Amino acid sequence: MSTLQAIRGMNDILPQDNPLWHHVEAIIRDTVTQYGYAEIRCPIVESTDLFVRSVGASTDIVEKEMYTFQDRNGDGLTLRPEGTAGCVRAAIEHGLLYNQTQRLWYMGQMFRHERPQRGRYRQFYQFGIEAFGWEGPDIDAEIIALSAQIWRRLGIAEHVKLEINSLGSFEVRARYRDIVHAYFAQYENDLDEDSTRRLKTNPLRILDSKNPALQNLIQEAPSLLDALDVPSKKYFDALRGYLDALSITYVINPRLVRGLDYYCHMVFEWVTDKLGAQSAVCSGGRYDGLVEQLGGSSTPAVGFGFGIDRVVNLLEAIEAHPEQERVPHVYFMAMGEAAHKQAMVLAENARASLPGLRLIMQCGETSFKTQMKKADKSGAYYALILGEDELAERVVTVKPLRENNPQQTISFDQLIAFLQECIK
Ligand code: HAM
Repeated sequence: MSTLQAIRGMNDILPQDNPLWHHVEAIIRDTVTQYGYAEIRCPIVESTDLFVRSVGASTDIVEKEMYTFQDRNGDGLTLRPEGTAGCVRAAIEHGLLYNQTQRLWYMGQMFRHERPQRGRYRQFYQFGIEAFGWEGPDIDAEIIALSAQIWRRLGIAEHVKLEINSLGSFEVRARYRDIVHAYFAQYENDLDEDSTRRLKTNPLRILDSKNPALQNLIQEAPSLLDALDVPSKKYFDALRGYLDALSITYVINPRLVRGLDYYCHMVFEWVTDKLGAQSAVCSGGRYDGLVEQLGGSSTPAVGFGFGIDRVVNLLEAIEAHPEQERVPHVYFMAMGEAAHKQAMVLAENARASLPGLRLIMQCGETSFKTQMKKADKSGAYYALILGEDELAERVVTVKPLRENNPQQTISFDQLIAFLQECIK
């Protein structure tokens, strides 16, 4: 029988790796709370139509990356490839956008059938925020500032760089699309297969091609910034004013067009040179038309998604060692059935009285020597020992594991008070 393995591009996150994930997730939670964002949890599966109508029928995601299937009723469903569409669907469905603004965030698995490599997975984790009801650009600056705050707290601010661009209004973008189409159409014979297809379906995406053979052509392409109309330029300048005031450094990348169709005006990406080809750790922008497009009333919106896998990869790449998950305070060992039962009772009472206490109870019968080794390996500060003698005297032996202090005995009655001191 063949061995069962995880699906290619879908990773197990093992116990030794989780402290780093928890560290990133804790910083995310603290930061969004500080800025007043509220969590929304949407289903992992949505109707296929939702993504076709929002992300765009001619995008890479919809054309070739979605995990799409029919369920037993014959309904067309898709594992979410991103979080914005579901968030907008839920906000409309539950009336969250009716005469009110919303600051929302989410975290969870997304699925794209891309070619797996470091930093690019078929199941990956995104943290995202979406702000509804503000025309900006102050809120645009706020979400960028929020992301910058997270980099600082993670200690990676110097390893990421902010790129921004403006796609202008939808009219500007449509006009620019024609300009880009006309430009690349002159060089149709020089385009690769992907770009030839894009020329017909989504010419702006050619600007995003990584093919070295096309870079000269792309560099010479008409710039989006030159195609902006006056209101779009004013908007972009106002956003830059906020970023300058907040001392957030950025570069303008006129080739930044993003791979999803719903954007207008400001788009941005935080990129790093530490992760090879998968350089984008966080990407987002404004999508003022999407709520209406999905059946809601016209609502301005802006947001971003960041790849938690990539941020964890980046922390590993720079060998950051944030405070790891804290080790247990005590490891409780017991010899003999009666002592073990009593130890379980003491442990349970101590946990109930002291919620901050991290106590590991030895389970399964094994020798004193083996238990001692396990206590040491757990990283605990103290071993609590309950043998037959201790049981008879109703005391516990306390052995410091990290310092050279002598061991002592503590009566059952005094144990909680002693452990309370340990936690301090
Ligand atoms: P996106 O650029 O497709 O945008 O993805 C956002 C981030 O998710 C990327 O910058 C990257 O860090 C991470 N990511 C994407 N694909 C993968 C993958 N295959 N493996 C690992 N990480 C990946 C969106 O998804 C938009 N919904 C963002 C947004 C929210 N715009 C407005 N609101």
